[in-house]
Amino acid sequence: MTSIILLGFMGAGKTTVGYQLSDQLGYSFLDTDHEIEKQVGLSIPEIFESYGENYFRELETQVLKEIPLDNYVIGTGGGIVEKEENRALLKEHNNTVYLKVDYDTILKRLVNDDSRPLWKQTDHERLTLFNRRQAYYEESSSLTIQTDALTREEVSNQILKYI
Ligand code: S3P
Repeated sequence: MTSIILLGFMGAGKTTVGYQLSDQLGYSFLDTDHEIEKQVGLSIPEIFESYGENYFRELETQVLKEIPLDNYVIGTGGGIVEKEENRALLKEHNNTVYLKVDYDTILKRLVNDDSRPLWKQTDHERLTLFNRRQAYYEESSSLTIQTDALTREEVSNQILKYI
């Protein structure tokens, strides 16, 4: 069956739900950030620091173009929708799911997080990023699930109901 791609902002639960869903389906889970780290041999923060965001985005597009199209659950980085080229690829793929969360939930989840380069900004910049990306996630996906109040199992079951 067609692979399922999960989209959403940092802290939306793409990895958590991704593992849950792949367990339920008996699929493998692939995370685009992890693929990039493996290819470059550096962590995401190191790539941002040494080469900058634009270089990271190029690698992200490359990885997206090479994802297995069947029998995988794919977790993506929250900024994969930044490039129009990526949004077109995601939309073309029929099983792209947007895990939507309110900003307040993200704030609570990432309160002590300093592992994400783009989370290390002012509150105003983070919120602007969050707001700007909402339309991109919607435009790139075929299903949106508001996940704040749901467990990973509930989110996973909802995905399975609709795909
Ligand atoms: C990013 C999100 C991160 C990672 C990178 C950039 C973003 O992934 O790809 O730090 O631009 O929102 P997560 O969404 O898994 O945190």
